[in-house]
Amino acid sequence: MSSMDSGLPEAPSGRRPLPESFRRLGLAERQQSLQESLQPGPQEWQAISPGEKLAELADVMVESAIGTLAVPLGVATGFLIDGEELDIPMAVEEPSVIAAATFAARLTRQGGGLHTWATEPVMAAQVFLEAVPEQREAAILAARTQIAAEVDAVQPGMKRRGGGFRELRLQRLAESGVLKVELAVDVRDAMGANALNTAAEAVAPLLERVSGGRALMSILSNAARERRAGARFSLPLPQLSRAVPAGTSVEDAAGRIVLASQVAQEDPERAVTHNKGIMNGISALALATANDTRAVEAAAHAWAAREGPVRGLSRYECRDGALEASLELPLALGTVGGAVAFHPASRLSLRLLGFPDGRRLARIAAALGLAQNFAALLALVTGGIQRGHMRLHARRLAYQAGAREGECTR
Ligand code: MEV
Repeated sequence: MSSMDSGLPEAPSGRRPLPESFRRLGLAERQQSLQESLQPGPQEWQAISPGEKLAELADVMVESAIGTLAVPLGVATGFLIDGEELDIPMAVEEPSVIAAATFAARLTRQGGGLHTWATEPVMAAQVFLEAVPEQREAAILAARTQIAAEVDAVQPGMKRRGGGFRELRLQRLAESGVLKVELAVDVRDAMGANALNTAAEAVAPLLERVSGGRALMSILSNAARERRAGARFSLPLPQLSRAVPAGTSVEDAAGRIVLASQVAQEDPERAVTHNKGIMNGISALALATANDTRAVEAAAHAWAAREGPVRGLSRYECRDGALEASLELPLALGTVGGAVAFHPASRLSLRLLGFPDGRRLARIAAALGLAQNFAALLALVTGGIQRGHMRLHARRLAYQAGAREGECTR
């Protein structure tokens, strides 16, 4: 029966639309239904068919799964971070990202490597209450102990590992009059979304009783402003000499990097691209460890705009004959729970990193983001990024033209 016969509008390209029951079908039936509707070429179908085990994994991870999308997973090698030798897994589709990270890793290690820090992994769960009379706010603050106990009761494991409730904060939203109740919770090694959402929902009825108001919604904030990590490096200028083109002095190259970083403070449009380059590294590591890349990106860009205009997340200056660089941003990365614990590829990535805890992973991510940014700025101010891009792009074109391993030009 065609879609015309079924009374349903045709899907794009005239294919038969998927049945309404699609999401309730078993994996094999769903795949069959899609094949019938789409009639994909064998290569297209193979590209999303990783074998039975991974397809089953996809099926329990998301609704309506049909297969998986294999993004390239690579390793940026040669990092020295806080005195530790590290190779960093990165999952990314953009050709030059891993090459650039490896290049920057080698450069920064000549100045003693990257140095990092991270705050305690504290995130906020929010309960928004409507119709709370002002005089009831004090009652909410007075119920702090009870609220803390309720938050900790829903996540006893987190409490046992040294995390749990930290702070209660109230804010009356000026326009809507809604009362925001914020619960600051130390989520330890988890990304924390599940823990925070569970805690917020569990505490909402208590808050309604105490405040006399009505919960509008209960959800974490992905802003993660208290859960930040940072990295810095210092590179004596002579160490830049092999990285700058003939005819350019290291002083000139370093000065131009500093100026480029100032431009990213000054021009919001440039800042977006500057920060995108930082996230090239951080998101690739987040994806390789099956962390929530959208949460990490949302927090980073909001942090970059915390004063109003978007500003570059990193800073550079020349001091005492060295190029000094630093980066700070919110980083909600987990090493336990959710897809991170569930996906064998994430386990492999964490194994490569020596099974770091959540804070260490955030510190590694900050170092990687800064290295990525350094490689981009160096290329941009000394000859442009297209040269490196085009070399990798040429390999793609050669592949498309039929060349295989060993035949592509490097
Ligand atoms: C490309 O993915 C990233 C860059 O555009 C970053 C930047 O401009 O700083 C090269």
